[in-house]
Amino acid sequence: MMKTKRLLTTMALAVGMTLQAQTHEFVIQTKKVGAEIQPTMYGLFFEDINYAADGGLYAELVKNRSFEFPQHLMGWKSFGKVTVKDDGPFERNPHYVRLAYAGHPHKQTGLDNEGFFGIGVSRDAEYRFSVWARIPDGKEAGKIRVELVDTKSMGEQQAFATATLDIDSKEWKKYQVVLKSPVTNPKAVLRIFLASPQTVDLEHISLFPVDTWKGHENGLRKDLAQALADLKPGIFRFPGGCIVEGTDLATRYNWKNSVGPVENRPLNENRWQYTFAHRFYPDYYQSYGLGFYEFFQLSEEIGAEPLPVLSCGLACQFQNPNADAHVPVGQLQDYIQDALDLIEFANGDATTTWGKLRADMGHPAPFNLKFIGIGNEQWGSEYPEYLEPFVKAIREAYPDIKIVGSSGPDSEGKQFDYLWPEMKRLKADLVDEHFYRPESWFLSQGARYDGYDRKGPKVFAGEYACHGKGKKWNHFHASLLEAAFMTGLERNADIVHMATYAPLFAHVEGWQWRPDLIWYDNLRSVRSVSYYVQQLYGLYKGTHVLPLTMDKRAVTGAEGQDGLFASAVVDKDKNQYIVKVANTSDKAQSIQLTFDGMKKKAALTAGRCIKLASPDLDKDNSLDAPSAIVPQESALTVEAQGARVEIEPNTFAVYIFEL
Ligand code: AHR
Repeated sequence: MMKTKRLLTTMALAVGMTLQAQTHEFVIQTKKVGAEIQPTMYGLFFEDINYAADGGLYAELVKNRSFEFPQHLMGWKSFGKVTVKDDGPFERNPHYVRLAYAGHPHKQTGLDNEGFFGIGVSRDAEYRFSVWARIPDGKEAGKIRVELVDTKSMGEQQAFATATLDIDSKEWKKYQVVLKSPVTNPKAVLRIFLASPQTVDLEHISLFPVDTWKGHENGLRKDLAQALADLKPGIFRFPGGCIVEGTDLATRYNWKNSVGPVENRPLNENRWQYTFAHRFYPDYYQSYGLGFYEFFQLSEEIGAEPLPVLSCGLACQFQNPNADAHVPVGQLQDYIQDALDLIEFANGDATTTWGKLRADMGHPAPFNLKFIGIGNEQWGSEYPEYLEPFVKAIREAYPDIKIVGSSGPDSEGKQFDYLWPEMKRLKADLVDEHFYRPESWFLSQGARYDGYDRKGPKVFAGEYACHGKGKKWNHFHASLLEAAFMTGLERNADIVHMATYAPLFAHVEGWQWRPDLIWYDNLRSVRSVSYYVQQLYGLYKGTHVLPLTMDKRAVTGAEGQDGLFASAVVDKDKNQYIVKVANTSDKAQSIQLTFDGMKKKAALTAGRCIKLASPDLDKDNSLDAPSAIVPQESALTVEAQGARVEIEPNTFAVYIFEL
């Protein structure tokens, strides 16, 4: 018995050693330079879900600043004599508050604002408080005192930063003052006291960090915008997602409401407030402070092509099976005009109506818009019917603009199979595909695009993320499978022109959907492993595809390929060959990379490897441990025209070779 056991162990060891020793040969054909990798290939999908805009990227710290939430004082605690009035200076945001003398020198009138899950302030940072105000009786000047307060403080003073403002005009006027915080507090409160016997009216009460992304006053949170820029995105899709469609047409994203002076941009309900009753956020609205101008500006600043997506006149079809929820197909003129006007807003010169608005907002030069999406996750025969008149009108007015259509919410199946030929018939330039799918799906899709019709529209993998079966949260394994799947996007760069992970942002106290690419609280943010996958693809996207095969087959995780996925590119600008490999198996793999077709005397001069790995497949980075799993770089020994590499189990590796 003992002997048999020893024999078996010896045999197992021998087999194990043979397995380990078995080397896979990847042949990269350097002479067969393939399709150009589009500059738009890897990018960003932005949607105001999970408090991505108000309470997230948009740096405004005051919630319900214009008192336009249906409960006009939601987010505020008022004390003393505060009344809400509705004949304010901004016709689309008419509400404001009137602060009157409390009636006794020891009593107080004023308001506290709770911010978004509190107001996050950092030590030594400055915050710009601004308010539109007036003294309604127009006689003596009034005064307000503005404080940043720690209501839980055990110190003598709750306030840790204070300033006063004299309100001296009967006419509405903007007043502002900068407060410097001596402390870090993620959950401060903004408190405003009436500090005079005179009545004062206040409207659009705002507090922004002075230090925003690129210093814009109506600006973005710097760490979050920087995280976007660090991805080196080629495309920036906004404003969603389902938010484009709305729960009903009234709540669709209306881009025209999101431009012009911020004080007069009307509030919109955020559909993610109630889309999931089990994650309900009654105070989730869209201030539109982060609107289309800001989206275009951000695209420009992070070097990405803007891709706005507009409503096609169909309200969310998941929530509206009834035809009367949608615009009747013959009455789409306003929606079509919205699309045409948007192109004018982005590209028209200052003599045009919408181009002038853009110029007045501070950007006289065009934004050079090249793409527009019409409709999000639409389906059924109605979608092509709705899309057709848009295509016709846009083609007529702007023949160079590329139109993105949709293949519906499913990654395959009846609707998908119906819509693709329809998109081809309508000559959409790109088709948006969505897949939030489990591990098995990602493992089986390495060759997804290999058989696509090369003459059809191009692919925009517009929303995707691996949603682990029973593990619907960010974790390493899901990110690894996304990396594996993306080798197939890269290999098919002739038809896949854009790919954007979704969703992008999530506040840890306000999420409705996960996994997400970047998480944050009021002061900190963390980049997920999926973020680093996206970043590695973005930074090392190369310029052209190179064929890579193992035993003459593409490496797609297929049967007999030991869980390996791979793709290769050349970067003609940097003179590099780049090979991406995902080892989705539980065993280490030895790979011989052979660069076939290099000139006889040519040789690789250096190599390095960047790896993403984690022994715990369920783990991800967190706010407390943001660098738990980050790319690790090491040097590689290169041969003249190849390299032998070892890739550990469950690892994504990018190999970069200098020529
Ligand atoms: O990304 C979250 C949602 O998923 C998007 O709003 C929608 O397009 C998709 O169903």
